[in-house]
Amino acid sequence: MSTTDFAEFERSGWARRSGTYDGGFGAMTAGLHEALLDAAGVARGTRLLEVGCGSGRLAAAALARRAEVVATDGVREMVAVAARALPGARVLHAELPGLPFADGEFDAAVGAFVINHVPDPAAAVRELAQVVRPGGRVVLSCWDTLARNRAQGVFFDAVAAAGATPPADLPGTSPFARHATPSDFAALLAEAGLTDVRVEQVGWTHRVDPGQWWRDVLAGTVLTSSLIEGQDAGTVARIRAAYDGLVAAYAAGDGSVALPVAALLAVGTRAADGEMTGRQQGS
Ligand SMILES: C[S@@+](CC[C@H](N)C(=O)[O-])C[C@H]1O[C@@H](n2cnc3c(N)ncnc32)[C@H](O)[C@@H]1O
Repeated sequence: MSTTDFAEFERSGWARRSGTYDGGFGAMTAGLHEALLDAAGVARGTRLLEVGCGSGRLAAAALARRAEVVATDGVREMVAVAARALPGARVLHAELPGLPFADGEFDAAVGAFVINHVPDPAAAVRELAQVVRPGGRVVLSCWDTLARNRAQGVFFDAVAAAGATPPADLPGTSPFARHATPSDFAALLAEAGLTDVRVEQVGWTHRVDPGQWWRDVLAGTVLTSSLIEGQDAGTVARIRAAYDGLVAAYAAGDGSVALPVAALLAVGTRAADGEMTGRQQGS
């Protein structure tokens, strides 16, 4: 699949999910939002750019800190959802890569679980590094491995256990996939010229009714849901039965499950004027 086709797959997928993302999958991703804002140093008066803002939960948390927020998303239907959730805030359409902002316009830039959806991650990080001021931070997150990130891993394992093969029109993997380890994610930021780069493995627990989580993932993801929706009814039933068995391992005793969620949180700083970055020094 070409990068143009991948971008269109993501665009149309997120447009389809825009009305159903927030309450389910969006509530789960929000478990990392405060940590992302802390890593970006967001406080009163911080000029913050958010990319891939989805339904607007992280921007709402930043506004609660009295930051000056510009929330953006690459999908117009998501921008409309976020604008409704953030009355009075600046919510704009802006796709990565292709940001319409000036050099150094922001104190910090944050993207929660968006870099794994962009067609050219290296170009996207270079742009983010450019729109923050010297000394400003770029903070990004992606999912950790499916073995650690069980909230999504149980779906992929259920598909495999059911013997289902991915529908032919799905992208096999995302352009970001090869950067989704702590060292490769760090290298991606360093190659964009960012300094003081660190990548942390972070985790939290998502407690949810297992039947609800099945519906949340089908209504709130693009690739994972397409993997299941593209199957015939008998195969979907086998995937669901395998999911029920796998998710039971996380039973919390009250009918809900406590699913481990795992992510990588990456932070880099734009070099101060005159400071040499590792990339400029050739390291
Ligand atoms: C998994 S959602 C994350 C939303 C939000 N950041 C959160 O934490 O809930 C991914 C978001 O990235 C947006 N997106 C996908 N491709 C994009 C691109 N190339 N540029 C900007 N946003 C994009 C989608 O529309 C969607 O809102």
